[in-house]
Amino acid sequence: SFEVKIASSGASFSVPADKTVHQVLAENGIEIMVSCEQGVCGTCLTRVLEGEPDHRDLYLDDDEHAANDQFTPCCSRAKSKVLVLDL
Ligand code: FES
Repeated sequence: SFEVKIASSGASFSVPADKTVHQVLAENGIEIMVSCEQGVCGTCLTRVLEGEPDHRDLYLDDDEHAANDQFTPCCSRAKSKVLVLDL
C-alpha cells in the first residue's frame, strides 16, 4: 500500500492493494470525476506535487509519464510511499 496526501487539507489516506486511489478518495468524501476507469479517457487526470506515480494508463504519453507531475487516479498507483496530490 501507499499513501495519498491532499495538498489543500494535509489529510492523507492509505491505498490498499485492492482499491484504487479514486475509490479511497471517494470513500473519504473527495470526488474525482471519472469516466472510463481504465486509464483511457483522461477524465480523472490529477496533478501530482510530490512522489512518483506508478502509471497504469494509456492516456499520457511516455514524456508525460516521465514528468511525474500528473497521473490517472482511476487506475494508476504509486512507486513512492507517498503521493501528494494537488487537490
Ligand atoms: Fe478514464 Fe481515469 S477515468 S483515465
